[in-house]
Amino acid sequence: MSTQEQGVFISFEGIDGAGKSSHIDALAEQFRRDGRRVTVTREPGGTPLAEQLRELVLRQPMDSLTEAMLVFAARRDHVVRVIVPGLRRGDVVISDRFTDSSFAYQGGGQGLSAAVLQQLEHWVQHDAAAGDGELLQPDLTLWFDLPPSQAAQRLAQARSPDRFEARGEDFFGRVRDAYAARARAAPARFVRIDAAAAREDVWQAVSTAVRARGWMA
Ligand code: TYD
Repeated sequence: MSTQEQGVFISFEGIDGAGKSSHIDALAEQFRRDGRRVTVTREPGGTPLAEQLRELVLRQPMDSLTEAMLVFAARRDHVVRVIVPGLRRGDVVISDRFTDSSFAYQGGGQGLSAAVLQQLEHWVQHDAAAGDGELLQPDLTLWFDLPPSQAAQRLAQARSPDRFEARGEDFFGRVRDAYAARARAAPARFVRIDAAAAREDVWQAVSTAVRARGWMA
């Protein structure tokens, strides 16, 4: 099978305010111009059930284990109904956040143990990946890294915050550290994007990372 026919799974990660959204749209557009079918989706969310769970997670106070179980329940529905079918069709599946967000926010930010998160990850992502016995993971994760102070400034100008966005810089510092640890643990999958750079430079870094994998002309 040529690479053109194989599904590709790309996730975008980073703290709130890092500016992923416009680059997700631009990347999807670029792939479509290249003749690829693209599924753009997000977490928590991406299915009707998962979008309902998203509303709960973003609005209702709850403890970190409840939160983790809800985001992984949403992820299960998303994986089974959207991500795996998309990859099997040969789509480029671009997700605004995936499991690294849980390790960063529920793990780093809230202090939930990595062992619990790994267990949930195993249950949710293990048997979903085409039956080859591997854990379903993105082929590429673009981590938009931004100092929390800059992210806070951007968010303050934007809109009314959800539960996560309302947290302080300390919280986002821990989230960022957890992303850095995930990136160190999976260097072949992660590409760090300097999200403080000018918008054109950020786009350049995104498209270079994707071209380097041979997925785009
Ligand atoms: P996001 O999609 O960035 O929402 P928006 O752009 O509308 O603010 O993310 C939603 C929030 O959910 C974000 O603050 C991170 C959080 N989140 C978790 O805490 N754990 C997870 O596993 C995921 C996927 C997201």
